[in-house]
Amino acid sequence: MSPRVEALISLSALRHNLQCVRQAAPGCHVVAAIKANGYGHGLVEVASALGDADYLGVACLDEALHLRNAGIRSPILLLEGVLAAQELVQIQEHDLAIVVHQQNQIDWLKTFVAKQNRPFEVWLKIDTGMHRLGFDPALAAHAHAQLCAIPAVAALKVVMSHLANADDRTDGKTDQQIRCFQQTLSEWDLPRSLANSAAILAWPEAHGQWVRPGIMLYGVSPLQGQVGLDHDLRPVMTLSSRLIAAKQVAAGETVGYGGTWCCPEDMLVGVVAVGYGDGYPRHASNGTPVLVNGRRVPLIGRVSMDMITVDLRSQPLAAAGDSVVLWGEGLPVEEIAQAAGTIAYELLCGVSKRVEFQYRD
Ligand SMILES: Cc1ncc(COP(=O)(O)O)c(C=O)c1O
Repeated sequence: MSPRVEALISLSALRHNLQCVRQAAPGCHVVAAIKANGYGHGLVEVASALGDADYLGVACLDEALHLRNAGIRSPILLLEGVLAAQELVQIQEHDLAIVVHQQNQIDWLKTFVAKQNRPFEVWLKIDTGMHRLGFDPALAAHAHAQLCAIPAVAALKVVMSHLANADDRTDGKTDQQIRCFQQTLSEWDLPRSLANSAAILAWPEAHGQWVRPGIMLYGVSPLQGQVGLDHDLRPVMTLSSRLIAAKQVAAGETVGYGGTWCCPEDMLVGVVAVGYGDGYPRHASNGTPVLVNGRRVPLIGRVSMDMITVDLRSQPLAAAGDSVVLWGEGLPVEEIAQAAGTIAYELLCGVSKRVEFQYRD
């Protein structure tokens, strides 16, 4: 019996997408962003499949320890760095690289009493305009000098920053950020890292020596108005379910909570076993595409916790048990995100625990 809702994860697609990164940013080292449970695809499985990446990027120590406990030995970078001084003990023990983005993190390193003779590998982060994490450019040289004077810190590995609007090729902010980064680092001979997926594909001038792809590894276009296939990326997750009922509903009757869909004629309505309890977006609107037996039909009515309803007028023979794809192979997740007023990142990260994950090579 197949599971009620299944997320089929293609590890070969993941590896193919890593090759696309290497082609788009030739000669660059790659930090594969696998935070948030591998963007919802499974942290350890994704890390194992991406053994060819130079580093794995996670948000925090917990995620890194989860990987180390599962036997993943790849270099790991903590993208948010140290959140409390005590974390430094385990960071050193498990040989994790850290982003340093604010003064208290430098202070903790200064006062850290090393139990082992293993220096910390530090990536210094500068805020070039996103105004989330990073040192103000005016303070970057001071931060750099302090870090270089700490015995427990190995020579700085990389200087990095993050782009706010790289998904829009027409947005001037990315040029400003690139210029700010270049000016700040003009006198430093250190490897640089600025590019997320969008910049890897659309801003070659931002590549530097280290790129940090996330969403494109999972087969999703980081650029507005495009889908992964436009960049030869392959979808990694296919979310599927099946019809559990198909019934005739009379013209003028409404379907689902709130009656937001009114049947324009006598019609066949399909009920699919998936809902917001599985991570299907509740805000998906009437008309959101769903694949039934490999063909598109529109979602009708409200998404409920365990079910959605679809218009089966184009498939009069559809019946309970027929296969349904919610996104993935044949139906880009970007389209579903757009119809639900969100982004593909959120849909992928939001697939719930009740969904059964299957991994295929
Ligand atoms: C610091 C950093 N680098 C790289 C990435 C990867 O970004 P994307 O998934 O857009 O490629 C992220 C994700 O948010 C990030 O926070």
